[in-house]
Amino acid sequence: MFTKKLEEAKPLVTFSDLFLLPGKTDVDPDNVNLSTNITKKIRLNSPFIASPMDTVTGADMAIAMARQGGIGILHRNCSIDQEVAMAKKVKRAESFVMKDVITISPEITIGKAKELMRESNISGLPVVKNGGDVIGILTKRDVRFADNDSLVSDMMTTKLVSAKANISIEEAKKLLHKHRIEKLVIVDDDNHLEGLVTVKDLERRGKYPFSTRDEEGSLALGAAIGPFDEARALALDPYVDVFVVDLAHGHNMNAVKSAARIAEKVDAEIIYGNLGSDHSVADIVSVMEDVAGLRVGIGSGAICSTSVVTKASAPTLYSTIQVASGVRELGLDIPVISDGGIKNPGDAALCFAAGASAVMMGSMFAGCRESPGQLLAIEGKMMKSYRGMGSRGAKAVRYALDRYSKPAKGIPEGVEGFVPFRGNVSDVIDEFAGGLRAAFGYAGAADIAGMWEDAKFGRISPQGLRETAPHDILITPSSGEEYS
Ligand code: XMP
Repeated sequence: MFTKKLEEAKPLVTFSDLFLLPGKTDVDPDNVNLSTNITKKIRLNSPFIASPMDTVTGADMAIAMARQGGIGILHRNCSIDQEVAMAKKVKRAESFVMKDVITISPEITIGKAKELMRESNISGLPVVKNGGDVIGILTKRDVRFADNDSLVSDMMTTKLVSAKANISIEEAKKLLHKHRIEKLVIVDDDNHLEGLVTVKDLERRGKYPFSTRDEEGSLALGAAIGPFDEARALALDPYVDVFVVDLAHGHNMNAVKSAARIAEKVDAEIIYGNLGSDHSVADIVSVMEDVAGLRVGIGSGAICSTSVVTKASAPTLYSTIQVASGVRELGLDIPVISDGGIKNPGDAALCFAAGASAVMMGSMFAGCRESPGQLLAIEGKMMKSYRGMGSRGAKAVRYALDRYSKPAKGIPEGVEGFVPFRGNVSDVIDEFAGGLRAAFGYAGAADIAGMWEDAKFGRISPQGLRETAPHDILITPSSGEEYS
């Protein structure tokens, strides 16, 4: 029996084991199409997802990712209220019709209104009474030289330009221009406030033409939840497009069953993971038929110590091949998301050749300006903090919030440290997308489906790997050594 186990040991291929074989092509890398679906509904122009980790994805990262055509998944190492506040911030960042509008009542003082404008960084507030009837709008222009003790009702503009929710973007632009105003109030037939269209939002929309948006024009957003955290899911559901059920070991049937119960109660789609084997797919879909995406890879992340501590591992490339095969063998069409250990565009290209629809990255985005961590100089180099969600520090936060979680003293499965500062998310995505396009070009693929079909692997030995890397040269810093 044990001899058989050894004979059946699987080759756990990692990024260092395989290369892409150059193939025949008539595709110019500039014309490679990187758009992809990560669920049934969500389509990205850039196949990149920021990990749900507390040093990677807060509201600013999620906003930046969606603007660049990817998506961010808010971390859950915080209270439910804090995660909801992050989600609201993303959804409010820009939209066509903003739904979650901050309003004021006519009886409050101009001083209070100014305070609210300052706190929420808003230049105009609809004035409502009786819980939603719009009677005016108060803008910065109205309050600039007004006495702080006067009332909103005395200073507000009552000549309102309003429209109905079905107004098109072009019609809204025309109305805003005609009346030379900054804000258009959206009301229903009974003059109840339904939303707000602002010039600022329309301008931003033009600035990010490849951004990922929901049906209403707001930036698209994902949020992590635990498989047993129904309260969190219900609180977040109005503000997110997709949940990522966030587990180190997703092939846990109690967790899938619980996640499936949550799935029935929410509107957002569900990505489930992490998985690492072909046969796990049948088990997951037998319980959660509607699962919209599968996140794969166990123990490969830059901050993971799971493989060392437990000797359990399904490296990301291996997991991608396994799960993507499992999905296809069942005749299903569920996007597979490769997660963990992606250090450069080549690693990502291997994931696409292995059947992935998108790649999730922690370390790469933790180094960006928009991640929550602090920027600091260490030995003359600019760095940002980065830690595993199973690290001692991250677990301590969780334990402080939820005394029923496992004590922080339990063995850590992640480490804490610093990653090089990489600039803006837009720079990292541009560089990664450029590298990916080049890789697709070599492999002879015009798009991600082309990589699934046409890209071929070659195996390389450890000696070969060394030989094919830059050699016999003292490399000039910043000439390409940042992608190892
Ligand atoms: P990269 O390499 O992109 O990996 O930084 C990010 C992914 O690593 C996973 N993750 C962990 N895995 N212990 C682990 O074994 C941890 O503490 C930990 N924290 C995050 C996660 O899948 C993430 O997307």
